[in-house]
Amino acid sequence: AGTAITLLNAPALFCAAFPPRAFAAHKGTFGSLAVVGGDTGMCGAPILAARAALHAGAGKVHVAFVGAGSPPYDPPHPELMLHPLDSGHAFALEEMDALALGSGMGRRAIAAEILLKAVELDVPKLLDADALNLLADDEKLGAALAARGAAGHVCVLTPHPLEAARLIGVNAAAVQRDRLAAARTLTSRFGAVVVLKGAGTVVAAPDGRTAVNPTGNAALATGGTGDALGGIIGALLAQRLPAYEAALAGVYLHGLAADTLVAGGAGPAGLTASELAPAVRASLNRL
Ligand code: APR
Ligand code: MG
Repeated sequence: AGTAITLLNAPALFCAAFPPRAFAAHKGTFGSLAVVGGDTGMCGAPILAARAALHAGAGKVHVAFVGAGSPPYDPPHPELMLHPLDSGHAFALEEMDALALGSGMGRRAIAAEILLKAVELDVPKLLDADALNLLADDEKLGAALAARGAAGHVCVLTPHPLEAARLIGVNAAAVQRDRLAAARTLTSRFGAVVVLKGAGTVVAAPDGRTAVNPTGNAALATGGTGDALGGIIGALLAQRLPAYEAALAGVYLHGLAADTLVAGGAGPAGLTASELAPAVRASLNRL
């Protein structure tokens, strides 16, 4: 109550948080991100997130698959490093600069276990999609995340209205009736930055800062655009943007990319989530 709401209509709100591309920069400067998800039959979701992360400037991007095995590589983006999480290989989540968890992750016990372990790591993280559904179903996980939030660890939650409704224990219509209140409820419960998606995406921080994003349009109402957003914000966390600025920049650039694509004829009907990544890169480099 009494908190000012910012209309996120100027990149000035987050620009200063970006690391400069200094002459002597190297890939470590821009951080390593792992996207964790992709149970059997849902491998596309984390790949979409990871491709978007590459285009949002992350230094290195991995995908860790929850399902049995992983594709050997992503043919259009062999830059991505793909790992199965079930094989005792050398890949270590704790060595990442950020984690984006949940895209196509499924809700099996193994996914819940991986998520609980990840929550305990001192790595900035983003939870989307099935990570949020698992969180809604599992009190132990919720308590662990809230304890991390209270201790000041960096976490961003990116629910769509139904995911927010499951977390709060109401229906999606109730979330939509007061989107600011829903975002703030989740922010205080988990001590995390919350991105409540949908037209007029709300970004809320535990310290009370709240913004509404004016970019984006209904071309984004197609499968996979939320996965792309998760990858973008994950990439910005890996580049060491603070959580609130990473979330603001991510939703602003994601929406602006969709606006630019529609102006160029790639929508509103038939825009694909795959097209967002290069358009986000263009928006980012024009800031
Ligand atoms: N105006 C502006 N932005 C919009 C609009 C709109 N009318 N419609 C959708 N968007 C944006 C949202 O703000 C969000 O950034 O598109 C994105 C959609 O994200 P999701 O709802 O997560 O959709 P999706 O990527 O298909 O999710 C994939 O994961 O969350 C689960 O159950 C979900 O099966 C789904 C899967
Ligand atoms: Mg989604």
